[in-house]
Amino acid sequence: MNFIDIINKKRLNKELTTEEIYYFIDRIGKAPDYQFSALMMAICLNGMTHREIADLTGAMLYSGDIIDLTAIEGVKVDKHSTGGVADTTTLVLAPLAASCGLPVVKMSGRGLGHTGGTLDKLESIPGFNISLTQEEAVKQVNDMGVVIMGQTGKLCPADGYLYKLRDVTGTVQSIPLIASSIMSKKLAAGTDAIVLDVKCGSGAFMKSLDDARALAAEMVEIGKKLKRSVTAIITDMNQPLGNNIGNTLEVIEAAEILKGNLKGDLYEVSLTLGSEMLVLGGIAESTEKAREMLDENIKNGKGLAKFKELIVRQGGSPYVLDDYSRFKQPKLSKEIYLDEGYVHAFDTEAVGRASAALGAGRTSYDMPIDYSAGIVVNYRIGDKYDKTAPFAVMYSDDKDKIKDAEEIFTEAVTIGAEKCDKINPVIEVIR
Ligand code: URA
Repeated sequence: MNFIDIINKKRLNKELTTEEIYYFIDRIGKAPDYQFSALMMAICLNGMTHREIADLTGAMLYSGDIIDLTAIEGVKVDKHSTGGVADTTTLVLAPLAASCGLPVVKMSGRGLGHTGGTLDKLESIPGFNISLTQEEAVKQVNDMGVVIMGQTGKLCPADGYLYKLRDVTGTVQSIPLIASSIMSKKLAAGTDAIVLDVKCGSGAFMKSLDDARALAAEMVEIGKKLKRSVTAIITDMNQPLGNNIGNTLEVIEAAEILKGNLKGDLYEVSLTLGSEMLVLGGIAESTEKAREMLDENIKNGKGLAKFKELIVRQGGSPYVLDDYSRFKQPKLSKEIYLDEGYVHAFDTEAVGRASAALGAGRTSYDMPIDYSAGIVVNYRIGDKYDKTAPFAVMYSDDKDKIKDAEEIFTEAVTIGAEKCDKINPVIEVIR
């Protein structure tokens, strides 16, 4: 078998055999990056059949270890987002669901393309360690109920490699590649049930509802074949989910929700996903009951306490949540004013790129991140903007970066004279 023949076959839009798919995944670490880049682009352009996607998921799943979580009692539920902007739900719901008694083993990723990553956000907390062994993770969940960690080199190394490569080769946006990437990781992580947050809209990899439904159906199908319960929730990404975009800024917004100081779309999506997790985990008999439990643990402070406990357990400083000035501070800030009117639309992908341009994301492999960089957006679709306050505030250490980001951001917002409706952040649930 020959890698170049496989690339050519996919370029000609032909179906790869099971053997060819297992062969090219096995070439990781042996064949050069450029051959994988070419193949990823051919898959992006020509797609894959359901059978090819299932084979690709299997090949990536078996490229490394499969975690054994049987030492943790109860139904282990994981959650994964297909990627968005200001999408900080994990930092809200992992500790919150754990505070309700659900064992949460959360394997997270770094930023990808214009989207943020939970690991980068957590690493903005001084000292926070995302590299745990399987034994350490199991012990932590048994001791205190929750772990959020990176993919170890041994877990789905094929996805680890391809994820990094796709980030810098314009090959993220593909249903087969996203479905196999997410499901191989989730299945290797050894949880019993998975809640998927499938983002849809201008800031998502899936721009249309049809594509989001197709991605959700593909992942639910893969889960069924491998005997895991999977619930997919399609949520809106036509505007940043929270108001804060950027690593430290997003940790602060999650803390504000856990303190009970903030509601809004990020709160709403977090509680919707968390409710599904509690039901799948057998902690609550209905999503209504689950929501009450989650809300109660925001009011009584148990969710925030669990977040602090998680931070301490993973080597970080919990003091940052009480005193945000203990985070690394940006050297510069700039208030952004736009024309008056009603907020009609965001090109949310461009907003994510503006945040990356400030230093919050990567444009090449292993590029360092400025944790304090980012944007606070003060208005949402449907709001009236009258210039009495800045529309947004940008933070960075570099004035040229602010200039570039401002250009991208101002182009990304559409303001019109006519009133327009607010957007419901939860679109549909596929069980
Ligand atoms: N999240 C993933 O884990 N993989 C993708 O390909 C996209 C989003």
